[in-house]
Amino acid sequence: LKAKYLDLIANASDEAAIEEVRLAAVGKKGEVSLKMRELGKMTPEERQVAGPALNALKDEINAALTAKKTALADAALEERLKSEWLDVTLPSRHARQGTVHPISQVTEEVMAIFADMGFTVAEGPQIESDWYNFDALNIPSHHSARAEMDTFYMKTPEGSNDAPPVLRTHTSPVQIRALEKNGAPIRVIAPGRVYRADYDQTHTPMFNQVEGLAIGKDISMANLKWVLEEFLSAFFGKRVKTRFRASHFPFTEPSAEVDVQCKWEDGKVTVGEGDDWLEILGSGMVHPKVLEAAGVDPNEGQGFAFGIGIDRIAMLKYGIPDLRAFFDSDLRWLRHYGFSA
Ligand code: PHE
Repeated sequence: LKAKYLDLIANASDEAAIEEVRLAAVGKKGEVSLKMRELGKMTPEERQVAGPALNALKDEINAALTAKKTALADAALEERLKSEWLDVTLPSRHARQGTVHPISQVTEEVMAIFADMGFTVAEGPQIESDWYNFDALNIPSHHSARAEMDTFYMKTPEGSNDAPPVLRTHTSPVQIRALEKNGAPIRVIAPGRVYRADYDQTHTPMFNQVEGLAIGKDISMANLKWVLEEFLSAFFGKRVKTRFRASHFPFTEPSAEVDVQCKWEDGKVTVGEGDDWLEILGSGMVHPKVLEAAGVDPNEGQGFAFGIGIDRIAMLKYGIPDLRAFFDSDLRWLRHYGFSA
């Protein structure tokens, strides 16, 4: 009997099998239990021999059962440890770190330079009303400047007689918003996205400008020139040759566009040398009609405004010959120019 059950226990491969053996041996109706019940029918002499023997057998079987159970549990744990094993000495997988986009970096740099010259930052919406984007800036609806701007028009809201809103074509509407809010004197810049239906090496349908506006008692064109040259020197880290070209904007009089000397060569653009010029900004003395539209009395103050192409000066600073690459989101390109890890 003993050999039979110890053998069964040894061969039991799981908890259920062990329980089966336990029931068969020492369970209520188990073989050993039944034998013990028969003790009552024995003579006292027989019982004296059989009793301790059966008890010992029962104990031995129980001990074997417990030992086997523990062994099975240990084996199961071992199995689990093996499958869940983790090598903490393996090198970690390399995670590439993202970085601030070059245009955002340049925008922050521009803000910092103008902050040093006392300019605070103003903001306006990218979906702008016809009034702020055009009329208030002395561009009435028949004006040719509207056609030149390649404007993206939005849908007019149902039931409205207003002119359709536009994706702002420049940051100049922020001049009006800032003047309405703060009045004069004022010294602000307004960086942000602007939109025009235009696409080539130096034009993208979405691009970035930073507007500048300074109105005071006797701010002049000379102040404008100084501020812009001071800015460009700080931004490029050296004096670069500029060309102030007489120009025309409905919202400034007189007006000037500024080009920066540069060289296009071997798929690279270099600032401050060569025979090429890249236009980077428009500027001028704020037109009295603009001040009036913004609720400022032109007899109380005057000043200048400018709009710099942020992407253009970023191209020049980093030697990137095609503006469109800035907005392609090509990681290889970003890495090549050191803009991403
Ligand atoms: N808004 C003009 C443009 O986008 C630039 C400009 C700004 C010119 C302020 C004069 C004064 O072309």
